[in-house]
Amino acid sequence: MLKKNKLYYPGKELKNKAWVKNNSIYIKGGKNPIKFWGELAKEILWFKSPKKTFIHQPPYFKWFVGGKLNITQNALDRNLKERKNKVALIWEPEPLEEQSRILTYYDLYREVNRLANALKRLGVKKGDRVGIYLPMLPEVVISMLACARIGAIHIVVFSAFSSAALKIRLQDTKAEMLITADGYYRRGKIINLKQSVDKGIKGTKVKKVIVVKRAGNKISWKKNRDLWWKDIIEKEKDECKPEVMDSEDTLFILTESGTAGQYLQILHTTGGYTVQAYITGKWVFDFKDEDIFWCMADVGWATGHTYGVYSPLLNGVTFLIFEGAPDWPNPHRWAQIIEKYGVTTFYTAPTAIRMFEKYNGKISKKYKFESLQILGSVGEPINEATWHWYFQKVGKGRCPLVDTWWQTETGGILITSLPGVGPFKPAFTGLPFPGIKFDILDEKGNSLPVNKEGNLVILPPFAPGLLRGIYKSPKKYKKTYWSQYGNKIYFTSDVAYKDKNGLIRIVGRVDDVIKVAGHRISTGELENILSKHSNVIECAVMGVPHEIKGEVPIVFVVLKKKMSLEKVKKELIKKIREEIGPIVKPKEIYLVEDLPKTRSGKIMRRILKRLFTGEPLGDLSVLANPECIDEIRKRILSKA
Ligand code: WT7
Repeated sequence: MLKKNKLYYPGKELKNKAWVKNNSIYIKGGKNPIKFWGELAKEILWFKSPKKTFIHQPPYFKWFVGGKLNITQNALDRNLKERKNKVALIWEPEPLEEQSRILTYYDLYREVNRLANALKRLGVKKGDRVGIYLPMLPEVVISMLACARIGAIHIVVFSAFSSAALKIRLQDTKAEMLITADGYYRRGKIINLKQSVDKGIKGTKVKKVIVVKRAGNKISWKKNRDLWWKDIIEKEKDECKPEVMDSEDTLFILTESGTAGQYLQILHTTGGYTVQAYITGKWVFDFKDEDIFWCMADVGWATGHTYGVYSPLLNGVTFLIFEGAPDWPNPHRWAQIIEKYGVTTFYTAPTAIRMFEKYNGKISKKYKFESLQILGSVGEPINEATWHWYFQKVGKGRCPLVDTWWQTETGGILITSLPGVGPFKPAFTGLPFPGIKFDILDEKGNSLPVNKEGNLVILPPFAPGLLRGIYKSPKKYKKTYWSQYGNKIYFTSDVAYKDKNGLIRIVGRVDDVIKVAGHRISTGELENILSKHSNVIECAVMGVPHEIKGEVPIVFVVLKKKMSLEKVKKELIKKIREEIGPIVKPKEIYLVEDLPKTRSGKIMRRILKRLFTGEPLGDLSVLANPECIDEIRKRILSKA
């Protein structure tokens, strides 16, 4: 029997070899966080050391002020000394019969420099924005690092995003260069990526498109604009001096969904991000030279940036990326990859774990996973049952399970248990990372006691890797993060509570952002998209629980003219595919006569959600049109 609320601790062997073995680090970090981070920053190579660790000009702040560095010097050059011919990157392709590609630190160094030189020759300068719309290929890693090498700002766009989603990201950041591929493999099919590019860059400032030849599919070609990767690097030298970057120079922009369907062009800078990406990986995954690290996230997401690329390189470990899907051509693929390469550290999302759990007996019995030492989870709350399954069946009860909380905005992990310290408590993410101050507040800003749910906030000095802005939109920056409790408290938009040991449990978002298979989607964004359909008068979208994906959207629509449910469904799903991509599909679409509204006309999404889940509806006296409830209930029950 599993004991409820049981705390788990690391085994002796792991504890003994861990970078962090006991609680004293929390005391040190808590006493003087600025000094604490200032000392950690000394583990990074700087061209010029920072003069001051932290400056606060609310709602803005700076870290490692006056410091000059280049992240690639830390990720590549530094490793040439002791790890020149050590494997840096393993790429596991789909189709499975194809050869994997293995790049040593020296290989990666040369490839990055060649592309960096080519980008320079093509006119890319420090501060220019370069879009990267690539699937999981070694070239995506090379592209990001090549940009960072010359001080260009990379904007990685998830390859499963549609051409419309690509367009928005390129337009908002005014990128003039795009790196992409002809196509790629997923679930046995070739996806024609170049086709999305041709459509997506219309109306943007993109002048050159660099194309990696991957799938060999037929593509259209525009002379003078499109360039093959192979051709542009052919004559380039494999040395390129790293650009001297100021600590606060922008490293990258990553677009995420904000509340009410807004896009947030999240801006990360060089110094703080480098320090945080380095030290969080070192302590949370306890990176050691012999490790094989597999972060399963696509590089299109923040997890893929920090732990799929930068953190392992900054720590000199071997890491793995893969093309395709973890359960294709069969549900064993993820397990086979772990066994094939002897993965020691496995980092994935609850949605993937729940999918693996579905095949439980068949896989977890077959594989011993003897190489595994540490397991990680990220992106959404992991429920107790799934936590136990992951811990027992994959980790065989032997591996610490670090549930890591962070956000695209925070740049790196900020809440978790450390593997050599613990405790690991199912469904709780753990303690604030050493040197980071969190609080849980009520609506008025009072600090809440143990076991009371409230808004999760970060207090000064925040975190070195926290976002520095929204690209060209100070208004969005202030409103989204620094208005709930004034301009000195960062509002996470999450609800959480802590237990008597201070371990934090994340309850969920307070805004309209939902996590669909770990992907961040705003229901407002979906409503905006669906409203563009010419026959939709109004619609309401909300997230409801789903056993594998965590959450999925359901949709209620009011139509102008009669149309069959089948036809509406088809067209609306097509619309979402066009605007976002295949990563999100409504679980149900209901055609209704009217939506429940307050007297001031606000749609009561909460009531719709409760109608769907069957929970008590609560107070209906706020409604101007309570008569619509019965009709909606009937629709839900009859699925018509
Ligand atoms: C939101 C941020 C870049 C990190 C991955 C997701 C939720 C994240 C956890 C966790 C419960 C979590 C929060 C957060 N979240 N990690 N371990 N337990 N919830 O980043 O896509 O920017 O989403 O994901 O709600 O606010 P993201």
